[in-house]
Order: sequence, then structure tokens, then C-alpha cells
Amino acid sequence: MQPIVEMRGITKRFPGVVALDNINFDVLPGEVHALLGENGAGKSTLMKILSGAYEPTAGTVVIEGVEHDRLTTKQSSEAGISIIYQELSVIEQLSIMETIFVGNLATTKVAGIPVVDHKAMYKRTKELLEQVGLKRDPMTSVRDLSISEKQMVEIARAIAFSAKVIVMDEPTSSLTDEEVNQLFAIIAQLKAEGRSVVYISHKLKEITAMCDRVTVLKDGTAVGTRDVAGVTVDQLVTMMVGRELQGKYNEKHEGHVASTTPILEVKGMTRRDGYVKNAEFTLYEGEILGFSGLVGSGRSELMEVIYGAAPRRDGSVLLHGKPLSIKTPYDAVKAGICMLTEDRRYTGILANFSLRRNFAIGEQIKSSSGGGLIGLIDFARELAIAKEQGVAMQVKMRDIEQNITELSGGNQQKVLLGRQLATDAKVIIFDEPTKGIDVGTKAEFYAIMRRLANEGVGVIVVSSEMPELLAVCDRIIVFAEGKQRAEFPIEEATEENLVRAATHYGNEEENQ
Ligand SMILES: Nc1ncnc2c1ncn2[C@@H]1O[C@H](COP(=O)(O)OP(=O)(O)O)[C@@H](O)[C@H]1O
Ligand SMILES: [Mg+2]
Repeated sequence: MQPIVEMRGITKRFPGVVALDNINFDVLPGEVHALLGENGAGKSTLMKILSGAYEPTAGTVVIEGVEHDRLTTKQSSEAGISIIYQELSVIEQLSIMETIFVGNLATTKVAGIPVVDHKAMYKRTKELLEQVGLKRDPMTSVRDLSISEKQMVEIARAIAFSAKVIVMDEPTSSLTDEEVNQLFAIIAQLKAEGRSVVYISHKLKEITAMCDRVTVLKDGTAVGTRDVAGVTVDQLVTMMVGRELQGKYNEKHEGHVASTTPILEVKGMTRRDGYVKNAEFTLYEGEILGFSGLVGSGRSELMEVIYGAAPRRDGSVLLHGKPLSIKTPYDAVKAGICMLTEDRRYTGILANFSLRRNFAIGEQIKSSSGGGLIGLIDFARELAIAKEQGVAMQVKMRDIEQNITELSGGNQQKVLLGRQLATDAKVIIFDEPTKGIDVGTKAEFYAIMRRLANEGVGVIVVSSEMPELLAVCDRIIVFAEGKQRAEFPIEEATEENLVRAATHYGNEEENQ
């Protein structure tokens, strides 16, 4: 069968990142083709190229046999491509009818003179809404619709515009189970009409439930395309995470029994920007608690809001049973909560300062009594802390007055860890602690984490490397879409059930 869309050798570079690297992707008439991959894999970028919104750095797009080197958005929509974006593009002030016909008028040429016939538009809108099962009057303001209803309006617009290929970019991320079923029914209907659907998702059960083929993207490359009927969930997971799953981690985990005294309790945590919704967990004294999940699941975002580095809408943090009022990282450090951030270059190191200052800054914040780091820096004390931690962490350095940026990544990370340890923290959060660090230094980090836990510190580890979590944690929480979805004591945790939990979950109360 002749594909309706063929994307050939598509490369897209943004300054500093290759978002897509020589991708081939095609869509057959009447198929539902899933585009699967972790956050940042390049799914949205590929579809923005199909819509003409982005120009590819290299490659061509062929629609119904017509080759486009420089596809414009107008050409794309006239060729029958319609995209329902992750961030819905509807204009809140308009009515449903206006929303549907704004698209049409803007893209249809009627001999140069647009003649507006309200009666006809109203009637047509009613038909379209019936077709997508939306029980609303065409004059209803879009502002009054739920997210799923807005999606229905976008689908109705695509149909009105005789779209041949409808792209849905993570359409179910804020739908209830019932709304998801309704969406699936509409997709089946679109397919029955001979239209094609490109369905972007990272939820495997949705893909196996109603897609015909699936293409997996990882870090901007296409891992492969399969018939859904001939592929298992495990194979998809393997394609997505980029290597064979190991099942149970084969190195023996030191059987550690954490105490039953909570050290940190997080309740109803919700970020103002919505990236974390009603997250809850308890960390016990002496425990290493892991957070697993796909890239973009909201784990770092949760840690940021606990640490006061992002505004919260709701929720509370209790340390040893006492509620904390953390509004800034400064408050967190004062209270005894430290965090080693994911991107040390931007949020961890004091780039143009000496190792001495970098080691000692945490302790200085902790012991200062004013509202900030006031001018009084005790140099002798700073030096003592820096020397002690420099030795304890075995940092490879020339001189304590050396600029931190001269050190290797692993050694910079050791300095940051030394900084946390100097503060006598009660809770330490490690966010992707060993990213870009060599194996030997990794092992040193794991040993330090266990030592801290044995001393009664509560340790949190966020990591995308499952073997790392399985090797160091006592318990693992799986995060997806801003919320905990499952929890495993280490004895029951395997790579397989971590990935399953991250990709198979309901949408219960996600509706806004
Ligand atoms: N407009 C942009 N400018 C710079 N980088 C971008 C832009 N859009 C996407 N990227 C980068 O391209 C990569 C792929 O992103 P995206 O296509 O949004 O992934 P996905 O939709 O699979 O989550 C990411 O590294 C992202 O940061
Ligand atoms: Mg996307």
C-alpha cells in the first residue's frame, strides 16, 4: 500500500542538540500509527516538521506522492495533515462554532471572497459535534469546556477540514478513563472513515489496545517500526529504554532494614505549574528511597518543590513530624534538607569560585543566623571544612584555592556532595547523582550513600538508571505524570516491574 505520508532522512538540529537524527517514518492510509518514546525523544519535533511548523535541517516530507523540501504549515494542512497539539491551540474567547470555522476560513480559498453563512455553519457544527459525540451547543464558549471537550472540538475541526492524517500528541495525559474510552471510540471511527491517525504516547496499554503499528524513538533516533499485533510489551519496553531488561538485578543487595521512624513526610504536594499533582511519600530514618520513572515523569520536579526551588500550590513537608515552611532552597538547607541537583553546571557549582568556597558554602548558609549569606565569611572555618571534605571525598585536585570548573565532572560532583555532608543534613536528595560519571566514582558514591543511611540520614535517589536504583535502594517508588503510581520493596523490584508501573497506569483523578 502506498503510504500517505513518508518522512525521509529527517534531521533537526537546535542549537546544542540534535533533536532528530536521520529519521524515516511513514503513515499508511487508514492506520493508527503510534509514536512511542520517553520525554525528549523527538516525537513532537517530528510532528512539527510534518505540520510545517519546523523546517528540517535535512530530509524531505512526501505527502501523497508529492515531495516537499520546504513544507509550509499552509501546504501541510491543505495536503490534509491536522495536528492536535499537546498544548491545545484553541482560543478561549471563541465559541465552538467559531473555533471550527476559523481554521477553515483561514485555510480555504473561496474565489478570494469569504462569504459568511452563520446558519450553514451552525448546522455543520452541530453535525460535527454529533459525529465526535460532544453534547454541546455550537455557540458554547470554548472557555467553558473541559480539556477532553476541547480535544473533541479540535478533532471536529480536523474532520471539518477533511483531514486525512490526524496527529494526536499525548492526547490522554489529562483525561479520565471514561474520556479515554470515548477518544478511542472516535479514533476507531476516524479509521473506519479511511483516515490515518498518528498517536503519540508513552502508555503501552493504549498502544496495544488500539494502534496498528508503532514506531519507537529514542534520543532523536528511530529504534524501529513494528506491527503491534506481532510485538510484546516487553519488546516495546526494551526498544524504549534502549537495552535488554535484566529482570532481577543480579548483584546481591545488602539486606538493610530501615527503621520505622519517619524522617520526612510529604503530603498532597502539588506544584503551581502542575508538573506535580498530589504527590505523597514517607522516608524513614536510615533508608535509601529510590524514585524511578521515565524521563519527564516529574521526579526532579517533585524534589525541586520539596527543596523550595519551585513554587508550590499545595502540600506539606514534615521533618521528624514537624511541619516545615520551605519557600527557598535556603530554608531547606537550614532545616536540614540538602539536594544534589541533576544538572550540576547550572544549579550546583559556584562556577567561578574556589574549591574552598564551593565546599563550605552549604555549612555557611546553615550556620548563618540572618536571612541570607551576609558578608561575614569565616575564612579559617571555610578552609577547615574544605580541607576535611576534600580528604573525605578523595577529590583529585591541585589546590584548595583552585577554581572548581577546572575539575572533572566526577570530582565536581564529589565537591558538591562534600558540601552537603558538611552541613550535617538529615535528608539528602540525590538527583541523577552519577550521570556522566565513571564507574569507579559511581561505586564510591554508592558506598557513601549507604554510609550516610547507616548513620541515620534519610537518602532519596532519583535515577533513570534502573540498575543503579536496584543496586542502592531499600525501596523504590515509581513516578509517572507527576504522581507516585507504584511502590516496591527492594526484594520485589525488578527492571521489568519498574517499567511496567511507569507505562501502565490509570488516569483516575487526573481530570482538571
Ligand atoms: N524549539 C526548540 N528549541 C530547542 N530545542 C528543542 C526545541 N524543541 C525541542 N527541542 C529539543 O529537542 C528534543 C526533542 O524534543 P521533543 O520533540 O519535544 O520530544 P518529545 O515530544 O519526544 O518529548 C529535546 O532535547 C528538546 O529539548
Ligand atoms: Mg512531546
